[in-house]
Amino acid sequence: MTEVEETENRMIAKPRKAVFPAAGLGTRFLPATKAMPKEMLPLVDKPLIQYGVEEALHSGMSNIIIVTGRGKSAIEDHFDVSFELEHLLEARQKKELLHQVRSISDMIDVSYVRQKEALGLGHAVLRAKELVGNEPFAVVLSDDVIDAEIPCLRQMSDIYEFYGASVVALMEVPPESISNYGVVDAEPIDHQGVSGRLFRIRNMVEKPKREDAPSNLAIVGRYILTPEIFSSIESIEPGKGGEIQLTDALKHLLRSRPIYGFKFEGKRFDAGDKLGFLQATVELALKRYDLGAAFREYLKKLPL
Ligand code: UTP
Repeated sequence: MTEVEETENRMIAKPRKAVFPAAGLGTRFLPATKAMPKEMLPLVDKPLIQYGVEEALHSGMSNIIIVTGRGKSAIEDHFDVSFELEHLLEARQKKELLHQVRSISDMIDVSYVRQKEALGLGHAVLRAKELVGNEPFAVVLSDDVIDAEIPCLRQMSDIYEFYGASVVALMEVPPESISNYGVVDAEPIDHQGVSGRLFRIRNMVEKPKREDAPSNLAIVGRYILTPEIFSSIESIEPGKGGEIQLTDALKHLLRSRPIYGFKFEGKRFDAGDKLGFLQATVELALKRYDLGAAFREYLKKLPL
């Protein structure tokens, strides 16, 4: 097979692996994150990272790679078998709880890799290079929780399969908060008769000043990337905040490959931020079959 044929062949494969960078310091959520990883903060009764892992599984990605750092062992324990707990639940005939606890450890094929120092999101993704190998993969930032009928990663994986190029998730953001995001300069393209959702990216800027933002389209925490991103990360210098930024690596990749942006269908919560976390808690609790009705009644009685 020629190199070109090999690349084309590889491009058709759907992504099977998802990388979860979870080695950040979570400073926006201090003091809760002093001793506990941000990714383990529970929304109703499930840690943030489990929402992301379930989304990946429902999108056909059963190979999960978690990039962890110091003080993150709770994440490994969460996805591991807990013999004592299972034994106790079995003895007490708590079948439903036993099923829930077991399904977490049965759920995934998970590998861990360490990022010794929080040198940036791009650096964290690069740590997964060996485990990912030469195939397309997803990156999931688990503090971006996305509630969607069709999992966001599945929507993006379908786009990837069609175009065989990297895809980033996009969301419209009001001007007052645009400088918290990576922002794209992009040209809309029709995709299968639908317009306004898919964009071909021309350029991107990490956390621009409001007046410098090229659009109101911000990148949020879901990416499908081709493995060329690794050499792009390796060739860039630290950017904003002295960190190796994934946005800068994507910009580098853009010189040689097309990158698409997709305005997914669904609602995204920034659960790594205190207000966003509260909003996610309320909305997800209201949707729960076992809690929603009682919680709604409670909220109605509040003197708001
Ligand atoms: P964030 O910037 O949201 O996370 O990075 P943070 O740095 O932990 O949080 P704040 O801003 O200080 O509150 C997005 C994701 O990238 C991971 C984080 O764990 C988070 O899931 N990350 C970030 C790393 O794994 N390594 C890094 O060096 C930086």
